[in-house]
Amino acid sequence: MLPSPLLVPGRTVTGPGVLRQLADETAVFGKRGVIAHGSAFEGVCRDEVLKAFPASAIITTYRCRSGEPTLEDVESLRAYLQEQRPDWVAGIGGGSVLDLAKAAGGLLHAPDTVAAYQQGAPIPPATLPFIAAPTTAGTGSEATVVSVLTDPARQLKQSIRHPSFMPRVVLLDPTLLYSCPKPTVAAAGMDALTQAYESWVSRYATPFTRDLSARAFKAIIRSLPAFFGGDNEAAGDLLAGSYLAGLSLSHARLGVVHGLAHPLGVRLNAPHGLVCAFCLPAALRFNAGITAGLMPAINQAADGDFARWVDEALVNFKMVSPFKGARLTDREAIIAETLKSGSTRANPRDVTAGDVENLLNTILE
Ligand SMILES: [Fe+2]
Repeated sequence: MLPSPLLVPGRTVTGPGVLRQLADETAVFGKRGVIAHGSAFEGVCRDEVLKAFPASAIITTYRCRSGEPTLEDVESLRAYLQEQRPDWVAGIGGGSVLDLAKAAGGLLHAPDTVAAYQQGAPIPPATLPFIAAPTTAGTGSEATVVSVLTDPARQLKQSIRHPSFMPRVVLLDPTLLYSCPKPTVAAAGMDALTQAYESWVSRYATPFTRDLSARAFKAIIRSLPAFFGGDNEAAGDLLAGSYLAGLSLSHARLGVVHGLAHPLGVRLNAPHGLVCAFCLPAALRFNAGITAGLMPAINQAADGDFARWVDEALVNFKMVSPFKGARLTDREAIIAETLKSGSTRANPRDVTAGDVENLLNTILE
């Protein structure tokens, strides 16, 4: 009935303005804290959050570089944390900020380089409490033990994971999404929707994870167009949906869209959500036969054919394909990385080298 181990965040607080409770929520961990953040935290929100800490608290902030985290980014934040010696670290930002803070905090006392862990060295359990507050609704990183890292030197995008990376506290504050630029809302939202779909059809899905995926899917498919269209009331459902998709994929894994997204994303230097959005139509068709029994529920939530919904969404959200005019010269390596990916191995239909070649032809055409 239950996945074992069942990995969920220690405590999740939801509602408009809950980020202001950061001081209260972290008091139990100690008075020294580091807040790693992106642009959404700056301005009014930052002042209000910092003002709520008692005078005895020693809180420092660390502005993360924009873009998906590299090994170097993790080493830089890890060095900063080693210098500050905090009792806890919070990540306030999009999926990239959360993945960066999760990895740097998780590996704070680990003896090896981040590169070594990305290449498979066993990760020792993390002891530094990690608090996550997403400012986009996309990766669901706040509900997973995964951190996706890029090594530009090796042109490799690969995750590291450890059960102890799970956030001890998650603050789901929909007001943090309000200033999110529309292209980011669309790309992040399509990532969350892809994750709900892929965890739903995954070969490792169980009734427990399917319940999470279905709830995620229904929430995202309703709220994403509404929030994109300017309805801030929809931000709460969108945030809840991406969180639930994160919880589901933690246990059910994903599929070939995510298998393709890492090698393609690192080569094109394109946002993860955008890459997922434009790989999804080909994957839906590739999986159609084997997932026929699972699609009616999805199609019902989409008020029609989900594949058509995706085609229309890409147009309505004014998304521009990252594959337009792209030249990929090392197809063999892309195919090998896609086949090696744990996401590809979770895809409901077996994926061969020829299948990846065909998917690439469709995606890149
Ligand atoms: Fe994703």
